[in-house]
Amino acid sequence: MLQATIESILQEERLFQPPADFSQTARINSLEAYQRLYQQAIADPETFWANLAAQELHWFQKWEKVLDWQPPFAQWFVGGQLNMSYNCLDRHLTDGRRDKLALIWEGEPGDGRTFTYAQLHQEVCQMANVLKQLGVQKGDRVGIYLPMIPEAAIAMLACARIGAPHTVVFGGFSAEALKSRLQDAQAKLVITADGGWRKDAIVPLKDQVDRALADQAVPSVQHVLVVQRTGQEVSMTPDRDRWWHELQATASSDCPAEPMDSEDLLFILYTSGTTGKPKGVVHTTGGYNLFSHITAQWIFDIKDSDILWCTADVGWITGHSYVVYGPLSNGATTLMYEGAPRASNPGCFWDVIEKYRVTIFYTAPTAIRSFIKTGEAVPAARDLSSLRLLGSVGEPINPSAWMWYYQVIGGERCPIVDTWWQTETGGILISPLPGAIPTKPGSATLPFPGIVADVVDMEGNPVGANQGGYLVIKQPWPGMLRTLYNSPDRYRTTYWEPIPPKNGNYLYFTGDSARKDSDGYYWIMGRVDDVIKIAGHRLGSAEIESALVAHEAVAEAAVVGRPEESKGEEIVAFVILEDGYVPSDALVQELKQHVVATIGAIARPSEIRFGDALPKTRSGKIMRRVLRALASGETVAGDISTLEDHNVLEQLRA
Ligand code: WTA
Repeated sequence: MLQATIESILQEERLFQPPADFSQTARINSLEAYQRLYQQAIADPETFWANLAAQELHWFQKWEKVLDWQPPFAQWFVGGQLNMSYNCLDRHLTDGRRDKLALIWEGEPGDGRTFTYAQLHQEVCQMANVLKQLGVQKGDRVGIYLPMIPEAAIAMLACARIGAPHTVVFGGFSAEALKSRLQDAQAKLVITADGGWRKDAIVPLKDQVDRALADQAVPSVQHVLVVQRTGQEVSMTPDRDRWWHELQATASSDCPAEPMDSEDLLFILYTSGTTGKPKGVVHTTGGYNLFSHITAQWIFDIKDSDILWCTADVGWITGHSYVVYGPLSNGATTLMYEGAPRASNPGCFWDVIEKYRVTIFYTAPTAIRSFIKTGEAVPAARDLSSLRLLGSVGEPINPSAWMWYYQVIGGERCPIVDTWWQTETGGILISPLPGAIPTKPGSATLPFPGIVADVVDMEGNPVGANQGGYLVIKQPWPGMLRTLYNSPDRYRTTYWEPIPPKNGNYLYFTGDSARKDSDGYYWIMGRVDDVIKIAGHRLGSAEIESALVAHEAVAEAAVVGRPEESKGEEIVAFVILEDGYVPSDALVQELKQHVVATIGAIARPSEIRFGDALPKTRSGKIMRRVLRALASGETVAGDISTLEDHNVLEQLRA
């Protein structure tokens, strides 16, 4: 299937001009305007970013130096002071947006709440005061493990307000995964809820927190702040656990935003890499604020009349940058939806768009492909005429899904922004500007102004047009990750040394392969490392392997992604059992369940195959390339002469 995708992409020649009426009112309204900005940024990046920072953000104190680049470590707006929550809230109380809706929330069971900027500001100040009351100080890390309810955004902004870096953990992660993240971050407090609604069932978040913290497993955690969402019974540990609504009742709504240095930590977000231990991606205040703000403004062409709905969970970077920070920093109205398309209502997304007259809709290709499956009649039964712009993120979008999205959801009226970026990049790096850049189905098009991208070989030499290679970024940008929490060496080796720096020129290694066509358009092909993207969620093979080998029956395990039509990829695990264990359906189920318990439901393997050995090189390295071919039933191509035991292949072919 992958091959078929690549071929269809290679043949893709359709070009869609930005609709004239869209361009007329767009912030960046022509290809020339984009090119002008791009050239300005190349000619003098520091002035480019400094002008934007001065125009677009409020600073308590101006910076002394725009960029301090000691490769591969960057500092932006050095010496400047600002506060993300101030930029998202306080300044909109006096710029005419006080009574404008900041946040619209729709719960899965159909309940809802809305907050004006004044109301959201008040809630955030109250929660910030409650955090202080519970002992959280500037610099203390706070874990957030919440469903998609307004308190998730409120909690993030409250942390930002008092300078306590947050680490949001996706509510679909297990207690075990939560524990290791809280441990690494040494969180002082955890904000959670009694539960949340997901596909007509309640996710028992508080129970998971209790399990993560059991036996003093995370000694740094002093308190758990619990939001009441579902009203179900949960156990409250005396002294440690407190109800948010009880403390809110007496909390003052006066809490000035703490002036933060530009390079003060704003948040840590754990993401998957090539080893079992998730990486704590570090984002700091000034650069991230500017980058999430300006990318949201230009790529989503935000206007005051817009209602922006990004369907990502706040547990992922997309939720950080384009549900919460980017839109609110711009004074936009952002929409949060707790639920997911489900059997009882496959059209719930379209209901939300119709109900709230959403104008900008941003989702993942995996969702689009599942909508294609449920059929055109479902969206056709709703009024989607409010939409004016569509976005895609998280994995390559195949041209046929792009066309469906364009025709069926966008009514051939809405431009599509296919946005390429990563947890590490803080914001979108490659994407159309919808009023300026003509689109081609399946291409993320051109880099954002200030972003210098390229496709290179392993030595860092640019490859020719239409040649596949490694996608790299050649200059630092404000939204880039600063380091990996507690692991500066891993930061260096993971991102800046896979392609050896030459003459002090460092290339940021994205881990993606790509191709640039003769118009300079980027076509992202997929990961070149052991990161798997399942339904747009990012998981590491090694994480799943660690989970498997932790089971008593498993001696060794290797995990690969296999192309799958709707989710993009699915997980196939190759397992070698310990002596005394025999393969059985029951064991397959048990191992799948074990992975779910260790990581979360998103990591459930689709298939488990047993064998006596894994294909390895003479030096003992697992040959994942071979396993990938076996998993998808392809012939094993390329050099396998180093394979220790050819019989192994036959057995694992299934
Ligand atoms: C993939 C999500 C193709 C890519 C924001 C990247 C994409 C990884 C696109 C990062 C896109 C993201 N086209 N591939 N438009 N957007 N990716 O950290 O492989 O969850 O490296 O960030 O998603 O995933 P992450």
